[in-house]
Amino acid sequence: MSERNFPSKSVRAVAGTNIALVKYWGKRDAALNLPATGSLSLTLADFGSETTVRFASDAAGADGRDRVLFGGAPAEPRFAGRVQRFLDLVRDLASIELPAEVRTTNSVPTAAGLASSAAGFAALALAATRAAGLHLSPTELSALARRGSGSAARSIFGGFVEMAAGTRADGADAVARTIAGEDFWDVRLCVAITATGEKAIGSTPAMDLTARTSPYYPAWLAAVPADLDEARAAVRGRDLARLGAVAERSATRMHACALAADPSILYWNPATLAAIATVKELRAGGTAAYFTIDAGPHLKVLCAAADAPTVEAALAATPGVVRLLTLAPGPGARIVSEG
Ligand code: PMV
Repeated sequence: MSERNFPSKSVRAVAGTNIALVKYWGKRDAALNLPATGSLSLTLADFGSETTVRFASDAAGADGRDRVLFGGAPAEPRFAGRVQRFLDLVRDLASIELPAEVRTTNSVPTAAGLASSAAGFAALALAATRAAGLHLSPTELSALARRGSGSAARSIFGGFVEMAAGTRADGADAVARTIAGEDFWDVRLCVAITATGEKAIGSTPAMDLTARTSPYYPAWLAAVPADLDEARAAVRGRDLARLGAVAERSATRMHACALAADPSILYWNPATLAAIATVKELRAGGTAAYFTIDAGPHLKVLCAAADAPTVEAALAATPGVVRLLTLAPGPGARIVSEG
């Protein structure tokens, strides 16, 4: 493509974050960000990233590199570097060398175990490829988004989504797909935020440490395929008790595996435990509620839409819970403006 004639357009995309009910924890290839196992998640509405990308010779910052703005201000160097490396992949695909300007805003608290990178790289993959003149299929976008963050591959799709580990060395089959759309089942995820600020250790170094040092890692890997079969069947049968049981088991096994790393990885705080106790009390009282926990101290509680007010009230009364958000299933990544 001749850069002189390159039609510089600004493309804005949005993507919702997603929460895994069967967790991804461990990579089979670090360079290509290939997961060691499959995973299964729910993409969420109204809680994600909006990203605008424009490739143009005047788009570079003072340092000559891509200009990356986060929430209207220059992004911190580590985040900007991650975005610039991702844009290099897009430039390679589109055979262009132009710098880009990237403007991102997040409605997810960043790096707090709420999967801000999932929504961020899904929105970036879509906006950047379109701005570079490419039209990738959702499956191709999923493989590309995965290079930014493993969980981002799932946010390309809406509703209940399954990510395949794949077997190919190039990762072309390590992609996600929707198994039930966002209107299939009226569930909610009540997110109990139990701390402010950044998580103790990022998911990539934590997965690497777990894989290298946790004696439970092989057992974790061996358990995931059966959990995936169970979760897929539970979603298709709209069986909340069955899905909730596998979600809790997957999360607690993931954390147990990380806890056994050397040095130990512990994401939970006292409020995490208090919120787990609340979920168990809700269940004992007849409300079907089931928790999952990511690489952070927050609890995400799965329940039927009709039970969300009861679940919210119980979590709000739990010591140490600082904020509550209730989220519905949402669509996959999409373009909101182009031109
Ligand atoms: O995609 P990453 O590198 O942010 O890792 C995601 C890890 C977990 O959130 C803990 C699990 C998951 O499947 O989303």
